[in-house]
Amino acid sequence: MAVIEVQGLTKSFRTSKTDPGLMGAIRGLWKREHTEVVAVKDVSLRVEEGEFVGFLGPNGAGKTTTLKMLSGLLYPTSGEATVLGFRPWERKDGYRRQFALLLGQKNQLWWDLPARESLELNARIYGLSQPEFERTLGELSELLSIKDKLSTAVRELSLGERMKCELIASLLHQPKVLFLDEPTIGLDVVSAKVVREFLRRHNRTRRTTILLTSHYMADIQELCERVVIIDKGTIFFDGRLDQIVDRFAGYKIITLQLAPSDASATADMTAFGEVVERNEGSLKLKVVRDRVIPTVKALLDQLPILDFGVEEVPIEEVIRQVFQRG
Ligand SMILES: Nc1ncnc2c1ncn2[C@@H]1O[C@H](COP(=O)(O)OP(=O)(O)OP(=O)(O)O)[C@@H](O)[C@H]1O
Ligand SMILES: [Mg+2]
Repeated sequence: MAVIEVQGLTKSFRTSKTDPGLMGAIRGLWKREHTEVVAVKDVSLRVEEGEFVGFLGPNGAGKTTTLKMLSGLLYPTSGEATVLGFRPWERKDGYRRQFALLLGQKNQLWWDLPARESLELNARIYGLSQPEFERTLGELSELLSIKDKLSTAVRELSLGERMKCELIASLLHQPKVLFLDEPTIGLDVVSAKVVREFLRRHNRTRRTTILLTSHYMADIQELCERVVIIDKGTIFFDGRLDQIVDRFAGYKIITLQLAPSDASATADMTAFGEVVERNEGSLKLKVVRDRVIPTVKALLDQLPILDFGVEEVPIEEVIRQVFQRG
């Protein structure tokens, strides 16, 4: 049985709309107009044990809403989902003990308490014994290099330090399923890397099933073999990350090193492809995928080329284009 099974999950929100200006606000006092936002539309998904799935999509696509439904924080408008055999929104205790949701945009720890005490409260809520708590905290704080900050009040922690503590809080009870909503948001390069390495290790050693959203492609590329892409509430891609490039990037990039002070520096390249970058002695050409080989041949024939390379379009660029197309 799959760990996560989602079938036709849909969530719409009713929001009240107020006309702009004072008159609108006054009118809104007795006559409210409602509009419906379909945040998640007919989403189906199957995730097996130990998978690390990247959940991608532009702002407002429905990622957080989906994760909230799978965590039982939101009741779906229609559709079904089971995680570890539980319907999340029934909020059974047996489920609560086996999953965790980390919302990177939200602070889930007690603001005024030292990190350690805040974490201890979390451990109590999950019924961990003191030795269990000490052992797990020791291990996780060591791996995340945050040991020396545990006596600092949460509100005095830096963003990255706080995120590491949030991560510890969500892992104390050793959940089998982890929903991570932007766990590296705002972190510097080094901290983001520590968090990623930690997550990868955690996924490998414990076979924790992880669903991760992030706007940083580095997170997705380093961690997730499989990605699910959602836009306007609907999934439009579910597969391996490298397939996205194959399917959506219609071209490759040819980089050329040209002999210096040659006419080639100003040569008309439009016959070969679109010039996307031009520096002294080097050139980047965007070429339709199946024209790459004939183009390279022609270039080598016609221009004094010192070196060349063929690259895939960066995944970030591909995703950007996919979203722009809508
Ligand atoms: N409580 C709510 N009431 C009304 N509308 C909501 C509510 N929560 C979310 N929405 C709407 O649902 C849509 C999806 O929001 P959601 O937070 O799931 O997007 P997201 O994919 O997580 O985006 P982001 O990448 O910006 O975090 C948006 O249009 C949002 O405005
Ligand atoms: Mg979100």
